[in-house]
Amino acid sequence: MPEIIITPTQIHLRNSHISYVIGILEGGIAAHLYFGRRVERFCAASVLRRWGLPADGSLNLQNCGLNHTPQEYPACGLGDMREGALIVRSADGTASADLRFVSAEAEEGKYSLPGLPASYGGEAMTLRLTLRDELTGLEAQLLYAIFDDCDIIARSAILTNHGGGELVLERAASLCLELRDSRWDLVTLSGDWARERDVIRRRLTPGEMSVSSIRGASSLLASPFAALARPETREAAGEVIGAALVYSGSFYAGAEVGSRDATRLMLGLNDRHFAWLLKPGERFAVPEAVLTWSDGGFDGMSAQFHRLCAAHIVRGRFAHAERPILLNNWEATYFDFDENKLLAIAEKAAEVGVELFVLDDGWFGHRDADNSSLGDWTVDARKLPGGLKNLAEKVHTLGLKFGLWFEPEMISPDSELYRAHPEYAMQIRGRAPIESRNQLILDLSRADVRDFVYHAVADILSANPIDYVKWDMNRNFTNVGSLELAPERMRELPHRYMLGLYSVLERLQADFPDVLFESCASGGGRFDLGMLYYMPQTWCSDNTDALSRCRIQWGTSMVFPPFAMGSHVSAVPNHQTGRVTPIQTRANVAMSGCFGFELDLNKLPEEEIEAVRAIIARVKRLRKTLLYGDFHRLLSPFEGRDTAWITVSQDRREAVLMFTRDLSQPDTDEPMLTLRGLDPALTYTVLETGETYGGDELMSSGLCVALPQGDAASVSLTLLGA
Ligand code: GLA
Repeated sequence: MPEIIITPTQIHLRNSHISYVIGILEGGIAAHLYFGRRVERFCAASVLRRWGLPADGSLNLQNCGLNHTPQEYPACGLGDMREGALIVRSADGTASADLRFVSAEAEEGKYSLPGLPASYGGEAMTLRLTLRDELTGLEAQLLYAIFDDCDIIARSAILTNHGGGELVLERAASLCLELRDSRWDLVTLSGDWARERDVIRRRLTPGEMSVSSIRGASSLLASPFAALARPETREAAGEVIGAALVYSGSFYAGAEVGSRDATRLMLGLNDRHFAWLLKPGERFAVPEAVLTWSDGGFDGMSAQFHRLCAAHIVRGRFAHAERPILLNNWEATYFDFDENKLLAIAEKAAEVGVELFVLDDGWFGHRDADNSSLGDWTVDARKLPGGLKNLAEKVHTLGLKFGLWFEPEMISPDSELYRAHPEYAMQIRGRAPIESRNQLILDLSRADVRDFVYHAVADILSANPIDYVKWDMNRNFTNVGSLELAPERMRELPHRYMLGLYSVLERLQADFPDVLFESCASGGGRFDLGMLYYMPQTWCSDNTDALSRCRIQWGTSMVFPPFAMGSHVSAVPNHQTGRVTPIQTRANVAMSGCFGFELDLNKLPEEEIEAVRAIIARVKRLRKTLLYGDFHRLLSPFEGRDTAWITVSQDRREAVLMFTRDLSQPDTDEPMLTLRGLDPALTYTVLETGETYGGDELMSSGLCVALPQGDAASVSLTLLGA
C-alpha cells in the first residue's frame, strides 16, 4: 500500500519505488522538495540550500523571494517572474493570489473528478492539500494520488471561490513541477496528419519551450505529453520524468528555464483557449495530469504509463478483453458502396478469420462525398435499401460482428440538421462560419445539442445490432462562440465543449456497455488519456504504410500501450504514401496493436490470401501477449533504418519480436538485437527457427535476426520460454 506521511513541515507520498515530497515553509508556502526514487526519510535542508533558501524553511518574500522558491502551485502576480500555474483576476481587475497552507489530509483510495476523465481505482492514496488566498477567498485544494502498482503521481486541483466577489480563472494548470537544474532534454510527441507522434528531443535552453494546441482537440500536431530526460538518457537507461494530461482539448505542455537555471515543467489547459468565471461559492475542477519518474530510460517511463492505462484509465468490459480483428471498408470503397459490395467484402473477411466488419463513413443522409449530411444520422436508402438492421444481421449471419462509423460532434451546412437548427453550430454571431472539411462543429456546451448528439448515436445503437462504434472527429475549432453562453462566460466555451463531450460519452458508455468504442480524429488527432478513459482503443493514424507506422507506433508507445492503438493492414500501393510493402511487413507492424484490415480482401492474389489466413490465425494465438504484454522498444526508426520492438507476456513465457528494415542494403550486417523483458532464467525457443537461447543470453549477447531480401523487409518471431 502506498503511504502519505504528514508532519507540520512536510508531506511525503511514496510507494515502493518513488517518493514525492512537499515542504510547508514558513508562512505556509507549499514548496516542492523532491520527486524521484523512494527515500525513507527526507531532510529538506540540502534542497532548500540548493535553491538558495534558508535551510530551516524560513522565507523572505521581499525582493521577489518566490522567484527562487520551488512551489507546488505557484500563482502569478506576487514576485514569481516565471510562468505560474494559476492566474486569477479579481473584480477590481488585478490578478494575484497568495496561496497559503490551510490543511493536509490523506485518505485511502483515488480521488475522482466531477465530469472529467481521471485515473481510478486500485490500491491508491489521496492527499488533499488545501491552500487559501485570504484576500480573494480563493481556495485551492490540490489533489495528489499515488498508486501501489505503478509509479505514477496523479494530480489535479479543485478551485473554489469562498470570497464575496467574482473571480476569473485565467489559467489553472494541472501540474507544476520544479527542478533545480536545467540539464534536461525536453521530449515531446509532435507531428501532423498521417505522421503523428514523432519523438522530438530538444536540449533545454533559458526561456520557455513547449508544445500546445488551440485546436479544441489534443491534436495531430502535438500530444498532451512532455518528458524531461537527462542528456545521457537512452531507451533502456537513464533518468526521465514523464507527464501527460488526462484531457482531450486544447492544452499546454512545456518547460521554462528561469533564473538560477531552475526548470519548471507545466501541463494544463491552454489559457489562450480558457478562462473561467467563478462566482462566490462556485468551484472549478482542473483536468488531471499524471506524472512518472524512472531511472530505467524511456522504456521505464513507458512501462509506467502503460500500466496506468491498463489498470487505471481504460474502463468497461473491453478493458482487458482480446479485441476483435476487424476489417474497415473505408479504403476499400470510400463513399462508393452499396449493400452488395459491402457484403462481398464482409464475406471474404469472414472466410479468412476476421471477426468484426466496420462500415465507415457514407452510410447516412446523402453523403457521397465529405461535403454533406453530418448530423443527419438516418440511413441512406439508396445505398442500403434494407436499412442498417438488415445489413447488420446479414453481417452477423456471416459470423462477424458489425461496427459503424459516426462523427457525432459535427454538422454539415448541407444537412437537414443545419437547416432546422443553425444555432446548434459553434459560431460567432455576425461572422461567416469557417468550414473545414466542409463542416462545422456542434456546440456541445448546449444541453439541447448534447441531448441531440446522445440520441443520434443511442437511438441507432438501440434499434440495430451494433457491436462497435468508430467515433470520429475531423476538424478543429474556429469561430469559437456559442449563441447560448453569456459574454462573460464565452472564454469557457472550449472547456465547456470538452465537458459536454465527456458527459455524452459517459452516458453512452453507461447505456451501451457491450459496444466497443474506438476513437479517431483524422487518424490519431485526439490520441490522449482522456479519450482512452471513455474508449478503450484509438485509431493511430490515417497513414497505414508499414514504414510510416513503425515511426508512428513507436512514438505512440511512449505513452500508450499496444491495446490502445488501432493498427491495420491496408492495400498497396499505400493510399497515403504510394509505397509498396510486403503483406508480411504490413501485418508484422499492425499486429503490435488492435489488429485489423483496411482493404478489400477480394482484391488480394490467392497466395496473399493464404498469408492473411495464417497471419490471422497467428494473431489470434498471440493476441493476449500482443495486446497486454509488456512492450519494449529496441531499435528506433528515428535513429536508423531499423525498427525493432518486443512484447512479452506477463508470465514472460511468450514473446513476440518485430524487426523491420526500411531499405535493403546488400552488404549490411544483421544487427544483434539485445532483447528486453524476458526471464533470464528461462530457455526460449524461437518457434519459427527452432533455435533455443537462454533468456539471459538474449538480453546480453542478443539475437541476430536474418531478414528476407527486399525493401521494407520484416520478421516477426515467437519466443516461447520454458
Ligand atoms: C477520417 C478518419 C478515417 C475515415 C474518414 C471518413 O479521416 O480518420 O479513418 O474514417 O475520416 O471520412
